[in-house]
Amino acid sequence: MIEVVDLTRTFRGAGGLFAQNDVQALRKVSLKVERGAALGLIGESGCGKTTLGRIVCGLETFDGGDVLIDNQSVKTLGDRARRKVFRKVQLIHQDPYSALNPTRDIAHALIDPLRIQARLTRRDSTWVKQRAVELLSLVGLDPQETLYKFPHQLSGGQRQRVVIARALTVEPEALIADEAVSMIDVSLRLGVLHLLATLRRELNLAIVLITHDVAAARYVAHDGELAVIYKGEIVEKGKTDSIISAPVHPYTQALLSAVPVLRGLEVDGPDRYIPEPEVQVQGAEPAGCLFSTRCVFADDHCRGHHPDLSRWGDGDRLMACFKPQERQVVAVAVDDAMEA
Ligand SMILES: Nc1ncnc2c1ncn2[C@@H]1O[C@H](COP(=O)(O)OP(=O)(O)O)[C@@H](O)[C@H]1O
Ligand SMILES: [Mg+2]
Repeated sequence: MIEVVDLTRTFRGAGGLFAQNDVQALRKVSLKVERGAALGLIGESGCGKTTLGRIVCGLETFDGGDVLIDNQSVKTLGDRARRKVFRKVQLIHQDPYSALNPTRDIAHALIDPLRIQARLTRRDSTWVKQRAVELLSLVGLDPQETLYKFPHQLSGGQRQRVVIARALTVEPEALIADEAVSMIDVSLRLGVLHLLATLRRELNLAIVLITHDVAAARYVAHDGELAVIYKGEIVEKGKTDSIISAPVHPYTQALLSAVPVLRGLEVDGPDRYIPEPEVQVQGAEPAGCLFSTRCVFADDHCRGHHPDLSRWGDGDRLMACFKPQERQVVAVAVDDAMEA
């Protein structure tokens, strides 16, 4: 349904207030997600997740590669056709409060886009009200309770549900959830993740869960795929279960070891650490593997050569590393990193 091929995005002269370096937010990223499937996109802050999410929703431009929606390249489309195609892909971002107009009640938040949808699909005005009620029930809210409330009268979880209902007004084929639960109270997060998983099943939606939280990605995409992104580059990709149980890229292992035992969303066991992200010095990237500056296994070859994403094992795992580590989830502790 959504496919990106060798997608590249460079922000020119964006390396901070004084530095005028370019920031390579995405480097030749290729991904695909079908209708009804789930893809988790994980990586730490600044690795390009939001940029990728915004590009596949048509909210951000790209300078290399291509985006295909339902097998159609968006590059060849005119403005009108582009808008139509990108209606199929709706973004849910992290802050449901800023996504809703504080001066308008929930009924209006839904009815405005529903009116447009009714016009486009030649439905009459009674459909609009009925559909608003239907959508609120679908996202687990009581319509009578919610319709005439204002955003500030709802919890963060309820607000995010309203945002999801509003995204559904245009009858999309995919939802891109970008850190969609990170600003919600911890006790309400699981409910919203569960909702995304349910909508995927009931509406046959493609779900892309963009997150730094491995447990959340695992929850929503447990039967789907996981892509691990580091500095704008996919370093490992494959079936979620397989990656979680046997990650081979040292960065994936480090990410997972920060969440030692995953059971649902519960985390138990001692906290483990990954090496601190080094201060991002844009433009001063190593010639070889981008992770080599933080990797405990890196040698001169790693520092001098760039590893391409290639097949690993006999499944559909891809990874980009000269020193894949075949082992169960390990902890790359700060102390170990210092000693190496
Ligand atoms: N509009 C922009 N202008 C300049 N730089 C940007 C812009 N958007 C993102 N970036 C840079 O691109 C990189 C990736 O950002 P982003 O996609 O937001 O990462 P993530 O969502 O993984 O935290 C960062 O270095 C960020 O500073
Ligand atoms: Mg982001």
